[in-house]
Amino acid sequence: MIGCGSAAELRGGLGIRVSENAELVAVADIDGDLARDYAAQHEIPRWYASGQELIEDPDVEVVYIATPNRFHHPYTIAAARAGKQVLCEKPFATSLEENLEMIEECKKAGVLLSVSYYRRFYPNVQRAKRLIDSGVIGKITLAGIHATHFLGEHHTPDAAPRRWLIEKDMAGAGVFQRAGSHRIDVLVYLLGPVSEVYAFTEQMGDGYDVDDASVATVRFESGAQGFFAMHHTVSNSQTDWIEICGTEGRILLDPLDEGRVVVETADGRKEYQDDIPEATTLPIIDDFVRAIETGTPTICPAEEALKTNQVIYTGYRSSVEGRSLPVGP
Ligand SMILES: NC(=O)c1ccc[n+]([C@@H]2O[C@H](COP(=O)([O-])OP(=O)(O)OC[C@H]3O[C@@H](n4cnc5c(N)ncnc54)[C@H](O)[C@@H]3O)[C@@H](O)[C@H]2O)c1
Repeated sequence: MIGCGSAAELRGGLGIRVSENAELVAVADIDGDLARDYAAQHEIPRWYASGQELIEDPDVEVVYIATPNRFHHPYTIAAARAGKQVLCEKPFATSLEENLEMIEECKKAGVLLSVSYYRRFYPNVQRAKRLIDSGVIGKITLAGIHATHFLGEHHTPDAAPRRWLIEKDMAGAGVFQRAGSHRIDVLVYLLGPVSEVYAFTEQMGDGYDVDDASVATVRFESGAQGFFAMHHTVSNSQTDWIEICGTEGRILLDPLDEGRVVVETADGRKEYQDDIPEATTLPIIDDFVRAIETGTPTICPAEEALKTNQVIYTGYRSSVEGRSLPVGP
């Protein structure tokens, strides 16, 4: 694992530590003290102050990249060239060119490249998938995302512990990518690719170098319409829902991260409570190991994640150009 920060503690790092199918043999961080402390705390055999050294460790078979977004691309290329399988944190990379090169290098090296869009595995998302695929809500006509996460500490940027999140050079982009990537990915997983997007990606907070206020209207290849709202501007509340509507009813995931599902059809209104495990990334870690062992695709291969990231890149271009654009290069 490269990067021993928040994702290392709460996301992929936790998933690897609790998985019975994977072992965390080495960790690295550009801040060597962090890597050393993480290794000591979690009884990891080796630590490095350089990602490259970890990649060269012969015991390392898979590299999980949990650094700021800017380094996803160079570490993926380096890991692929060293013949290591790669699990990359979201949001995959920060440009289409980087994504394509990462995919190409991993293909050339014959290694898997997967992206940690772990919400695909959420039991509420899986329930929605079963319901949609079995036609319970009919033909899908409309889907919406509304996510407002207040980045409190980042409103005083000098004091922010993860300031890189609002620096364009390190993060690549703001909330449309940050909160958007996971949620757009859920809709791509459930409904298929987005074909057209018209977005407004703007800054409203002080000291931000990236968008903190973004909305978009989209059309899916299936013909369904969609609307996305992702903001870091709303204090004293947190909204995080995804709604999918069809000719026979609707499904509401609200809040997405807490597992509540509402289904409304001709049979009336039903509510379900699905448990989201604490180790949210455990299924994606186990799925990755399964894919290596069986030679079959992961649930979120890079080519699939690319569909999500292309919506994001096209959305930002659309905002600059002030018009709707077809999703793609
Ligand atoms: N924190 C979360 O809950 C979370 C959730 C999902 C995805 N992610 C993704 O995980 C990645 C890391 O995010 P985070 O929240 O853990 O950030 P973080 O700032 O908490 O941790 C990043 C770590 O990477 C280290 N680092 C920076 N540059 C490096 C380099 N060149 N080589 C090696 N180490 C380097 C930093 O010292 C830091 O310890 C991001 O891509 C983010 O989008 C985070």
